[in-house]
Amino acid sequence: MILGSVSENKSQENRVALTPDIIKKYISLGLEVNLIKDYATHMGISDELYKAEGAKFCSSEDEVLSNANVITQMGILDDNNLKKLKKNQILIGVLNPYLNEKKLKDVTSKGVNCFSLELLPRITRAQSMDILSSQANLAGYKAVVDSFAFFQKAIPMMMTAAGTISAAKVLVVGAGVAGLQAIATAKRMGAIVFATDVRLASKEQVESLGGKFLTVEGAENLETEGGYAKETSDEFKKKQEELLKETLKKIDIVVCTALIPGKKAPLIITKDMINVMSDGSVIYDLAASQGGNSELTKVNEIIDSKGVKIMGETNILNKLPVSASNLYSKNMYNFINNLYDNEKKKFNINLEDEIIEKTMVK
Ligand code: NAI
Repeated sequence: MILGSVSENKSQENRVALTPDIIKKYISLGLEVNLIKDYATHMGISDELYKAEGAKFCSSEDEVLSNANVITQMGILDDNNLKKLKKNQILIGVLNPYLNEKKLKDVTSKGVNCFSLELLPRITRAQSMDILSSQANLAGYKAVVDSFAFFQKAIPMMMTAAGTISAAKVLVVGAGVAGLQAIATAKRMGAIVFATDVRLASKEQVESLGGKFLTVEGAENLETEGGYAKETSDEFKKKQEELLKETLKKIDIVVCTALIPGKKAPLIITKDMINVMSDGSVIYDLAASQGGNSELTKVNEIIDSKGVKIMGETNILNKLPVSASNLYSKNMYNFINNLYDNEKKKFNINLEDEIIEKTMVK
């Protein structure tokens, strides 16, 4: 059995699906790993490192794609490569089935089995495969590091002979995986951290990290059975707006992470709220590519609204490709290990397994 991976579209994606440290694990499963020249050289990982772990390099993408039983990627293959896939091959990645519905229908109708890892159920058994968590965690960290670097003042309180610098105040909107890491990172760097969420369970988590939770008065717990956020009512929005408008007067940096699965990101930081913020404040909108939590966010631009800078990127993980790929690569291995029948030495698409059934693109 051969596992292959070809280059991503490097103009949009710096991460890769296989890092050198995982190759030996595939080989001990009994799989051969086929890659393409300069697979990860753009992020400082040479082909030699992969070869030392036992990977083989093919002379062309065509060769990788025609040899492989399973193809592992970060994103979907480009149109030209998708056309080359054959019956019974397996394609695994973040395939974005809502955006790529037509393309995926074309390949699945040829008998190619496609699995999209963002569809994994959030169950305990799938935690080691959970690419949403591994990547969101790093995104939360990087959003804080980038916004702090952009902020023109020091972050921690410093008492010096020349006077005292007060600690920066950070507000984290949305305390899920990314938000909690943002809180932890900001605290570690000496900021005073506030956070808000519609799921009341997050209050305890925020407080355990040393953050101050801002509760919307009289709010019910807006959490689905699966642990995700529900959309808020107009009444909730109004109360949240009043609370945040008051809070934002004293906040230096806002990190936005609020999302609702399958929907546009909720609009939380309005233009009116941004107007009350001090000159030099920074908003980092991690929800930018899903529409943004701030009204003024523009993807891949830094907006200056009366001295407040608003930032948001399509893929912040492009700036941490090695760490992000390392974790993704481990998530991918754990998924494949579950899909592979080690005794029979073949892939077993067992639709009674919730992990396999939920991730399979039908
Ligand atoms: P997410 O990325 O979908 O959303 C981020 C955060 O934004 C969430 O905490 C959400 O409640 C919050 N949010 C949405 N609308 C908001 C609004 N209007 N105002 C303020 N906050 C708002 O969520 P993520 O990070 O993927 O986590 C979702 C849940 O999944 C959490 O309960 C988390 O603990 C759980 N989880 C469970 C795992 C498991 O394996 N059991 C693994 C990872 C996460």
